Amino acid sequence: MFLTLHLFFYFYSSKSFTNSSPPLHISETSFLSIFLSSAVGILASILLFFVSGDVLYACCRSLYNENLLNKTVEKGTQPKIDISNDEFVSRPQVVERIKEILQPHKNHSYYHLICGEHGTGKTTLARIASSEVGCGVIYVDIPADLSGLDKAFGKAINFASEKISITGQWLRKIKSDDTPKISECAKALKTFRHASEVYKAKHDKPMVIVYDNVSYLVHKNPKILDILQDDAKHSADDRKYIAVFVCSEGSVPQRMESRSAWSRAKTPVMEIGDLSKEESMEYLIKKRKIKEVDVKKLFDLVGGRIIELKTVADDFLKGQEFEVVKKQVLNKVEKTFRSAELLPNGLYYEVGKSIIGDLLNSNNKSNELSFLDFNKYFDKTEKLNEVLGSNIFSYHPEKNVVTFQSQSVKCYVHENADIFSVPGSHIKIIEVN
Ligand SMILES: Nc1ncnc2c1ncn2[C@@H]1O[C@H](COP(=O)(O)OP(=O)(O)O)[C@@H](O)[C@H]1O
Ligand SMILES: [Mg+2]
Repeated sequence: MFLTLHLFFYFYSSKSFTNSSPPLHISETSFLSIFLSSAVGILASILLFFVSGDVLYACCRSLYNENLLNKTVEKGTQPKIDISNDEFVSRPQVVERIKEILQPHKNHSYYHLICGEHGTGKTTLARIASSEVGCGVIYVDIPADLSGLDKAFGKAINFASEKISITGQWLRKIKSDDTPKISECAKALKTFRHASEVYKAKHDKPMVIVYDNVSYLVHKNPKILDILQDDAKHSADDRKYIAVFVCSEGSVPQRMESRSAWSRAKTPVMEIGDLSKEESMEYLIKKRKIKEVDVKKLFDLVGGRIIELKTVADDFLKGQEFEVVKKQVLNKVEKTFRSAELLPNGLYYEVGKSIIGDLLNSNNKSNELSFLDFNKYFDKTEKLNEVLGSNIFSYHPEKNVVTFQSQSVKCYVHENADIFSVPGSHIKIIEVN
């Protein structure tokens, strides 16, 4: 700043004292112009000082964070696991499978997708596996509100503060809503790439980045998902880092599969499903201390979907009658049917009825439809996506089939067999002895 001021005055005085001779009387107007020029000069210097200081601050911060990132990668993100041991049902086989994905060998050249319906326990298991592997695993929890995406990236590498300069933050605020998220994401990827080079040079194997809850991206900003997928492909090609996408909805694998970057995805994709019957029993009887006679009814209602088992167990243990618990579960499913337009007078009622009929056909023992058979009911992809995205049916990329989304959906259809014109006897309710 002082240099600028000095230069300004030097320039000004040399100009006034060399060009005007003799400079004995300074008129009022020239005094005013000197004053104005000085003020402008001072302001410009202050601005210059502020901006250069800010840029310097951003550079230092960036270097500091890079150093921090390298340190974090060494021990991994170690995400928090929000479940106590007395409620947790261990699923060692699933955790082992995820851990295998999180420990790629040096020439691994694929990225991964882990799918499963909402509430099957993906986040819990991905966090457990990430923490157990530790070294070289960065876990990014994509937030439901994408305005917190930069913080999510920051948290993954254990720094919470903004990585860009203060001026940058101001500019970002006045820009449109989407641009900053995309630029934040590009910046985070650049940092990750750099860290992965450092990690690879030291450990001779690629580091791993887990993106959990990517379903939020497909709805709110699919472009970011595309950017992450493209980068995952390039990084897999260059054996820099291995990306693992964890998602809850069929629309994610469908979008990812339709892009050329899919060529580097590991197939078949891994799917995390419901708890088995034994695991569900362990949860309800041993962990939640519910009597066996009641357990059977609860399991028939919601199957092994852990999030639903937890809800019905909570309600039941609060003293609610089973019939009340059941009504609540079925009411919730009915609302989903309504918003999916699958009830009478709904846009997709007739199509839905045919699909339900096919799923429950007595020859269809597994209650599955091949994706092609499901697809034949729709003349437009958008319609198919809409029905598939409405949480009544579920697409399983590993087997490429469509099923009911959950046992509670199946139960609702059973209870309302007349609406869907399906004979009640065709509906299989899981039997628990
Ligand atoms: N193995 C498990 N044992 C007991 N509770 C679990 C287990 N896995 C998940 N949960 C609980 O079920 C709920 C949903 O789990 P979460 O991991 O968030 O599922 P998802 O990521 O598939 O939506 C959470 O409340 C979680 O604590
Ligand atoms: Mg989750």
